[in-house]
Amino acid sequence: MTEHDTLSQTAPKRVFIKTYGCQMNVYDSDRMADALAPHGYVPTQDAAEADLVLLNTCHIREKASEKVFSELGRLKELQGERRAVGADMMIGVAGCVAQAEGEEIARRAPVVDLVFGPQAYHRLPDMLARAQGQRHMHPSLKKAVIDTDFPEEDKFAHLPAAKKEVTVKRGLTAFLTVQEGCDKFCSFCVVPYTRGAEVSRPVHQVLDEARRLVDAGVREITLLGQNVNAYHGLDAQGRDVGLGQLAYLLAEISGLERLRYTTSHPRDMDDALIAAHRDLPLLMPYLHLPVQSGSDRILKAMNRKHTAAEYLALIEKIKAARPDMALSGDFIVGFPGETDQDFEDTLTIIRETGYASAYSFKYSTRPGTPGASLGDQVPEEVKTERLYRLQDLVNRQTTDFHASCVGKTLPVLIERVGRMPGQVGGRSPYLQAVHLEGSTELIGAIHQVEIIGTSTNSLVGRLRQAVAA
Ligand code: SAH
Ligand code: SF4
Ligand code: F3S
Repeated sequence: MTEHDTLSQTAPKRVFIKTYGCQMNVYDSDRMADALAPHGYVPTQDAAEADLVLLNTCHIREKASEKVFSELGRLKELQGERRAVGADMMIGVAGCVAQAEGEEIARRAPVVDLVFGPQAYHRLPDMLARAQGQRHMHPSLKKAVIDTDFPEEDKFAHLPAAKKEVTVKRGLTAFLTVQEGCDKFCSFCVVPYTRGAEVSRPVHQVLDEARRLVDAGVREITLLGQNVNAYHGLDAQGRDVGLGQLAYLLAEISGLERLRYTTSHPRDMDDALIAAHRDLPLLMPYLHLPVQSGSDRILKAMNRKHTAAEYLALIEKIKAARPDMALSGDFIVGFPGETDQDFEDTLTIIRETGYASAYSFKYSTRPGTPGASLGDQVPEEVKTERLYRLQDLVNRQTTDFHASCVGKTLPVLIERVGRMPGQVGGRSPYLQAVHLEGSTELIGAIHQVEIIGTSTNSLVGRLRQAVAA
């Protein structure tokens, strides 16, 4: 009997996947669902009715990590309730906490049946079969199935594709992971340890997946990678293809209207990628390019390997290629040793760059990273005060950016019905949410929308009547 048969005997079963962290985890959660589908698992949004619960976790900051354990406490109760009515619930921890803490999770939370890292997702059905075998053992003998190896084989080559109708249901926009892992070793960051070394998917795999998505109605693809612009995939002839060149290849797919990518590192923003922004209308003018700090001293201590001036020069070069480029970034306040002056330098780089949006975080010490052994930690209340000041500045920039769009006509990909009856909603090229009056027939295509106002975090628009050519 095959593993497939073993798992599908009692089908259908319900799987509830809870996703924490970055977009790569969102993508991975879908791929886990796809891997389980042939084994009779259907997704549910309600943990209480799930035969299997998977937590796809994030280790980036302490708070993110700790959420897992409080969630496991709640799940233990749900599991008890299900068992009381003769049902059951298996519990798995996936993602970056699983990779970083492995067996420690099973020790701290014996309720967990399986723990597996991001590189093991293609082995999920097999792990599940083994964990099911353990269910019938006496509790004292039961051991969680743990898989945190970085395998030799290509995970993506072994993960099944979603069925077309599943992709259709997921909507008009999709993520596509093209690169995983990180070799940069910023001194604050766990990603090189949880996701491993940089690996790029081969060009044909990316193009095949993109074509399948477009064939199922996807109009906008966001390419993902921890350092997506460090992408260097091989083509069929074994030649190295960078992200810029990949964008030209994707642009040839008929029906694909918009392309985005995230997250980029300033050091990998090469001329070919900047040229692609100049040449390809489908490459959206919105770039997430984190700088973390505006102080050269702190950038050096963070091991970012560039200066504030180099970042600003890069932004200038990008804007020369694509003048309407909107920028987004990430900032860490309170890195060890950050002085008032260092922080002021961060505010300065924010003013000089001008962001459409930005994410900002208090520095969180992560075990195993070089930052963890640095002295001169910044007191919590100083971090809090700096974070507020930074967020206040960024919020004003975001508001100004939204306001600058009023009066313009922007192409909006209409994706869904709006919050109010008679409304539809979509996104501008700059990733802003746009709401407008209009029929549901507009959904699925890009329409010209005049921006007539702003509300908190979104734009209000009016459909421009199509002018006959
Ligand atoms: N690869 C991306 C970032 C991935 S992590 C890059 O190089 O920019 C996402 C964001 O989390 C980072 O940009 C950083 O701002 C934040 N972050 C990472 N580690 C952190 C830590 N230890 N404390 C606080 N914020 C952190
Ligand atoms: Fe983390 Fe730095 Fe790698 Fe980004 S580039 S994932 S911040 S180590
Ligand atoms: Fe978190 Fe892992 Fe993404 S640590 S941010 S889920 S790569």
